[in-house]
Amino acid sequence: MDLFPKSFFWGAGTSAHQVEGGNRNDWTEYELQSAKRQAQIAHKKQWSDYILQNYPNPLQEENYISGRACDHYRRFREDFDIAKSLGHNAHRFSIEWSRIEPEEGKFDEREIGHYREIIHALRERGMEPFVTLWHWTLPLWLRDKGGVEHENFPKYFSSFVEKIHYALKDDVRFWMINEPQYWVYHAYIVGEFPPEKRSWRAAWRVYRNLLEGYRKIYRQLKSCDPHCSVGIAESMGWMSPWPFRLAAQDLRNFLPFYLARDFFDFVGINYYQKKNFWRGSGEHGNVSDLGWEIYPEGIYHIIKKAYAKFRKPIYITESGIADARDEKRAQFIKGHLYWVAQAMREGVDVRGYFYWSLLDNFEMPRLEGFWPRFGLVEVDYKTLERKIRPSAQEYKNIILQAKRSGVEEFL
Ligand code: BGC
Repeated sequence: MDLFPKSFFWGAGTSAHQVEGGNRNDWTEYELQSAKRQAQIAHKKQWSDYILQNYPNPLQEENYISGRACDHYRRFREDFDIAKSLGHNAHRFSIEWSRIEPEEGKFDEREIGHYREIIHALRERGMEPFVTLWHWTLPLWLRDKGGVEHENFPKYFSSFVEKIHYALKDDVRFWMINEPQYWVYHAYIVGEFPPEKRSWRAAWRVYRNLLEGYRKIYRQLKSCDPHCSVGIAESMGWMSPWPFRLAAQDLRNFLPFYLARDFFDFVGINYYQKKNFWRGSGEHGNVSDLGWEIYPEGIYHIIKKAYAKFRKPIYITESGIADARDEKRAQFIKGHLYWVAQAMREGVDVRGYFYWSLLDNFEMPRLEGFWPRFGLVEVDYKTLERKIRPSAQEYKNIILQAKRSGVEEFL
């Protein structure tokens, strides 16, 4: 029997703000205010010549301004042609709320039409759309009202989702939100994402409000279409297996799922690295360009735990590496898939793997900007030319092998 069923979803992900270009939301304003500061901070760090020879590099202010990004907003068809040519049968992307509802209660039908076109373009190419309804950005009118802190946030979120769902429901089966906990931590405790607050009290209020909004849209989506799947993708890290740390880590990884109680149909795992408890990465061994410790086995432990706790289907909604020279990416993908396969062999119901990211993009975490290169496809930010990296071909070979005869012997 094949380990990876024919129905397994193979693909990659993106998020609107990181690839589309031309957005206007709370992050774009924040970038304009903070770019200079970010470039100054970068001057105090050590960089490899290779990174500095690229454009834009961390010493330049434009590195920190999303601007036209990859211009994916206009080039999505070309990008999906590439994904199809790489054997993908699914694609994860997000819908930019600030485009759909640029003013409170005023919905832009043209922009809704744009996302309808995206979904049609995916379907035409035989790719299943996985739609993220919120990947951290907020429309400016909502930011001005207090953003997720506003007591009516759940209502605002649900009216945006209602509009989108009505327009797209016939063609979309999978819906999710991205990393509520990671976002709250970085926006309200560390204070490095907009609105740059540092308050545990506000963080807790915002966290509850965000999940309240999520539960509301869960009920809404399921009542219109009981067959759709709605879930949460959360950033999860793996630490050393000491008992105290394990308990803390479980809480950290799975808290959004405990708080959302039964309101999710799948668990989305975003896994990148071995971590310390709250911040930073492991210091040893094999690291990415961002200094994140590569530890494929971690994905296995997280998958096993998530399944033991929740008994729900699992999707690896993000797994990726910043690797400008493409020296480690192929091995990274193989290593992680090896451990995904191991968990499946032991009976865990994993249904998809989405490499992060299809394209090089604007890295929002820690405001790194354009210099980290996560893409299966390289983007030249001057010409916007796309170039398929060799590791993308290797990922394709794995997919083809898995589709033909099971991937076991290949890995
Ligand atoms: C986020 C992505 C980000 C990736 C790499 C994830 O936590 O969802 O937006 O680019 O990590 O840092």
